[in-house]
Amino acid sequence: MRILIHKDYDSLSKWVAHYIAYKIKARNPAPDKPFVLGLPTGSSPIGTYRELIRLHQAGKVSFRNVVTFNMDEYVGLPEGHPESYHYFMQENFFGHIDIPKENINIPDGNAPDLEKECELYEEKIEKAGGIDLFLGGIGVDGHLAFNEPGSSMTSKTRIKTLTLDTRIANARFFYNDVSKVPSTALTVGLGTIMSAREVLIIINGYKKARALHHMVELGVNHMWTGSMLQLHRHGIIACDDEATMELRVGTVKYFKDIEQQALDNLPEL
Ligand code: GLP
Repeated sequence: MRILIHKDYDSLSKWVAHYIAYKIKARNPAPDKPFVLGLPTGSSPIGTYRELIRLHQAGKVSFRNVVTFNMDEYVGLPEGHPESYHYFMQENFFGHIDIPKENINIPDGNAPDLEKECELYEEKIEKAGGIDLFLGGIGVDGHLAFNEPGSSMTSKTRIKTLTLDTRIANARFFYNDVSKVPSTALTVGLGTIMSAREVLIIINGYKKARALHHMVELGVNHMWTGSMLQLHRHGIIACDDEATMELRVGTVKYFKDIEQQALDNLPEL
C-alpha cells in the first residue's frame, strides 16, 4: 500500500485531483473504452472535486469518456433532497464538468425493489468493464463507503443498516437531528471496492487519526473495514499531517521518505 502524507488538506486535494486527471488522460478513453471511476461523497473529496473542476475549466481534462459509479446512497431520501448523494454529486461535481448524464451511475435509494437495484448495480459495473480507479473516504470508525464495522470483507452492493455512530456523524448535515438521518443506505461492498483495479482513499483531519492507525499499523479486520486496503494490489492512501497523529513516528518518517518524490511533484498533465 502506498501512503502519501501531504502537509495539509489543500495539497492533498490538489495531488489527488491531478492523479485522477493524469490516470484519465493516460488511458486516452473513447466511447467504446471509457475510463471507469468510482466516486464518494462526504467532506473529504470536496477539495478534490473543486480542483478537478478547475482542471477541467482550464482545458486540462475532459470527462466526456468517463463513466462513474458512486459508492452509496441513502434509502428513502428523494433525489432532490439537499442531503441526497444524487444532489451532492450534481452540486459539487457533475454540474460543473462535461460528463454525459448517461455516464453517471448512483444507486437508487428509492427503487421499488432495493435488492434488485443492488444486483443491477453490480451488473452495470461489470458491463462497464469494472472500475479502473475507486476514489473513497473513510468514516471515523474506519468504514469504507457504508461498509460499517463487521461488514463482510467480500460483500457486494447491498442494503446496510447504518450504525448510530455514523448517523450521529452525519447528523451535522441534517440540522444536527439524528432522527432525520436515514437509518439504511445502499452501498457498494468491500468486495466491489476490492475488485477495482486501483483504490485511492482520502483521509484528512485529526478525527480520522485513529482510523488511519488501524488501517495502516494493525491487521486486516472487519471491525475497521478500511483495513481491507492492505490486501489490495494497488491501494493508495492520500492523507494530511493531522490524520497521522496516531501513527508511530517511524511509520510517518518511512512513508514520507519513500514517497518524497511523489509528494514534491504533481502528476504531470
Ligand atoms: C459517509 C459516507 C462515506 C464517507 C464518510 C466520511 O459515511 N458513506 O463514503 O467516506 O461518510 O465522510 P466525510 O468525508 O464527510 O468525513
